[in-house]
Amino acid sequence: AAEQDLAGRHVVVSAGGTREPLDPVRYLGNRSSGKQGYALAGTAAARGARVTLVAGNTELPDPAGVDVIHIGTARQLHEAVLKAAADADAVVMAAAVADFRPAVYTTGKIKKVDGQEPEPVTLVRNPDILAEISAERARPGQLVVGFAAETDDVLANGRAKLARKGCDLLVVNEVGETKAFGSDGNEAVILAADGTETPVPYGPKEALADTVWDLVAPRLAETRP
Ligand code: PMT
Repeated sequence: AAEQDLAGRHVVVSAGGTREPLDPVRYLGNRSSGKQGYALAGTAAARGARVTLVAGNTELPDPAGVDVIHIGTARQLHEAVLKAAADADAVVMAAAVADFRPAVYTTGKIKKVDGQEPEPVTLVRNPDILAEISAERARPGQLVVGFAAETDDVLANGRAKLARKGCDLLVVNEVGETKAFGSDGNEAVILAADGTETPVPYGPKEALADTVWDLVAPRLAETRP
């Protein structure tokens, strides 16, 4: 059995991708499978935590012993994470959240009309959940962990994102059509607000998840003995 270093703690994990509907049959989405977030939830439960998993689109079964809240859009994820975070010791945002959503939801299926060009889709910003929970900690000492999905200048963008989002730890992973998204393995560098950087070599998503908890657990012990 894993060391019970998260016993007595409540952790909130978000996983999977959000879907932003255009009409009743279409949405804007992304390639997240939920595997990395589910691995975080499963390993936290194995280390003794009470886990709330806020899950976007995924085909994975609910992990045993974890409270799962299923959501669709970024705004639903926002509401569910904020509610669950109210009494959480740590919040880990592994979900792939749509930064933008269609400005207009069309209540009937958008039709193609002979001889007419399609209407352009206008996008509006979604709330930045990670930045918000980092700025307004629901309880003193609450630890906030973000992920950064980058395709170029991975580390430089990661370091800038850590500063911009204001979280304590940022797991920087390189993504592509098949990289990180959907696979069983992942590699990353975990950046801490105190300047330390922990490289995690390619391995199962559970191993990266355990390294995240290895960094979270002592930081929780420091702030709330
Ligand atoms: O699900 P898998 O197939 O296993 O793939 C795992 C993963 C690649 C999705 C995962 O490891 C990952 O990188 N998740 C974060 C994806 C993402 O949205 O990255 P980002 O760099 O766009 O966002 C940075 C951080 O802000 C993330 O923690 C994100 O959850 C959060 N965010 C982003 C936008 C927004 N509006 N609100 C947010 O809270």
